[in-house]
Amino acid sequence: MSEIPMYGEMRIRLEKREDVSGGCGEIGMGVRPYRWLAEYFDRIFTGYRGYIDAAHRTIVEPILSEVRVGCDLGCGTGTTALDLAARGIRMYGVDLSPGMCRAARAKARERKLPLRVLREEVRDFRLPEPVDLVLGEYDAINHVPRRSDLRRVPAAVARALNPGGWFFFDVNNLAGFEKYWRDTWWIEKPGLILAMRSGHDLKRRKAWCDCDWFVREGRLWRRHTERVEEVCWSEEEIRHALSAAGFAGIRVWDAAPFLQGDGITTEGCRSFYLARKARPGRR
Ligand SMILES: C[S@@+](CC[C@H](N)C(=O)[O-])C[C@H]1O[C@@H](n2cnc3c(N)ncnc32)[C@H](O)[C@@H]1O
Repeated sequence: MSEIPMYGEMRIRLEKREDVSGGCGEIGMGVRPYRWLAEYFDRIFTGYRGYIDAAHRTIVEPILSEVRVGCDLGCGTGTTALDLAARGIRMYGVDLSPGMCRAARAKARERKLPLRVLREEVRDFRLPEPVDLVLGEYDAINHVPRRSDLRRVPAAVARALNPGGWFFFDVNNLAGFEKYWRDTWWIEKPGLILAMRSGHDLKRRKAWCDCDWFVREGRLWRRHTERVEEVCWSEEEIRHALSAAGFAGIRVWDAAPFLQGDGITTEGCRSFYLARKARPGRR
């Protein structure tokens, strides 16, 4: 953490930092992710979830009449979980970040909606009761430490679902890593700046984003740093893992049409999946 008095100096420090990082992934090692992201997530990203709402209208809406109980996996601040709770669905939220769990609970209290938030892992979470729908949005499923974790996620989801239950999620694809996990992005709100310096390793199918937060405190700016990492799989690998976990009727949508030409997410960068847990005796 360091205190920075002016924008000008802040830019210089960022550039220096970029020099030593070289995208090799050394900077930020050991920092806990989703500490500051949890605190400021909604202020920064609320305007960037239009594509999720659009995908919901096309993909999730038609199945909602079959959903009584649901779970938002990697729920973050609970936006989707609470929207579904507002529609009368009994919702659970699962997230590993204590800050995100706190934020989701606070938002539930604020909106006076029931939401049970559990601090658990996407790879081996367990719920108190079986659910009809599990959602994993905004690349929550890419957030596992190793590529080999892929098999564990649908297995844990299948265990959580009722027979015939649905698993809806989106993922960043390799083309997305290649396209937008390579630059520095800069988002500014009153009293808050987030600089995100991304890099990726196509061979290891891993991407990282070093987040530099600058938070105004009176006349000074305080700086916080954290790193987010994602792993990536091909559609074939995801289909295979879903089938192995007992899912059928797997459908895939390219996310580009839901983004309505944001100029960044072109075809192939991101996909939505919907899969259904097989029912005994049915194909
Ligand atoms: C990009 S955010 C998306 C949040 C939310 N789904 C949304 O749409 O706003 C990814 C979320 O995944 C959570 N997360 C990351 N790794 C996780 C893990 N291994 N197990 C559970 N949650 C995890 C983070 O704490 C964060 O809240």
